[in-house]
Amino acid sequence: EVTKDKNGIQQVVLRNHRGASARVSLHGGQVLSWKTERGEELLFTSSKAIFSPPKAVRGGIPICFPQFGQRGSLEQHGFARNKMWVIDQNPPPLPSDSNSNAHIDLLLKPSEDDLKLWPHSFEFRLRVSLAVDGYLTMISRIRNVNSKHFSFSFAYHTYFSISDISEVRVEGLETHDYLDNLCQKERFTEQGDALTFESEVDRVYLDSSNIIAVLDHEKKRTFVIRKEGLADVVVWNPWEKKSKSMVDLGDEEYKQMVCVDAAAVEKPITLKPGEEWTGRLELSVVPST
Ligand code: BG6
Repeated sequence: EVTKDKNGIQQVVLRNHRGASARVSLHGGQVLSWKTERGEELLFTSSKAIFSPPKAVRGGIPICFPQFGQRGSLEQHGFARNKMWVIDQNPPPLPSDSNSNAHIDLLLKPSEDDLKLWPHSFEFRLRVSLAVDGYLTMISRIRNVNSKHFSFSFAYHTYFSISDISEVRVEGLETHDYLDNLCQKERFTEQGDALTFESEVDRVYLDSSNIIAVLDHEKKRTFVIRKEGLADVVVWNPWEKKSKSMVDLGDEEYKQMVCVDAAAVEKPITLKPGEEWTGRLELSVVPST
């Protein structure tokens, strides 16, 4: 189902037959909503979010490409999240995803202006699918259609909706090294058996496990993140002070969100001419005690 938001931007709504749904905007290829069969929203979107391109919406799952953060000469998190994508009518087959799932295929190719900033021709194919069991899957295929190799970093910058940041812990990162963006990217090792939040957190966990859990004690639910092709996990919560400096985030809203991103940051992905990379994210939610 293709609809338009109030600014005329096309959005695609995916539904499974049990009533779960997901909404994907052609602005940025960004997933803006993912709901359970009971209609519960699982992704955070700020009440102050600005829905006018090019700036990405504060919430959902913006895609950071070809640069994560400020690790390069491009604007923060690269340009893909700011661009208008198109529906890919004839995507190459994708053996790893069942075509029986509700899905949409989107395509991004660089504009002349993009090529001035980042002189590498690529084709970025994104499939978003919603399975019968409500799992949300995102598969990115990035192909080098250039005559030279190029490198990029990447993240599915996922804003989970949570009851309260003090009720949440992230499991699966223990014993892994991380780079702390709040300490000049210094390298530390995670000592605790789960990550909890008491102040701003902005970290890149390196070579992490491919399954990460975000437990919400109060809501009694756990998000399970499964990733492939993406070595790192970014964890971000802006906390009080930084929230106040962000125009598109309410002062108290940091309590209702946590970003846990499947990402490739520390070791950029390099593609030779003609080569293609695939990065997969699968999200599910399970009841917990
Ligand atoms: C996080 C970064 O992933 O994204 C933070 O680690 C950054 O440093 C945050 O503030 C949000 O970025 P933006 O560009 O969407 O405001």
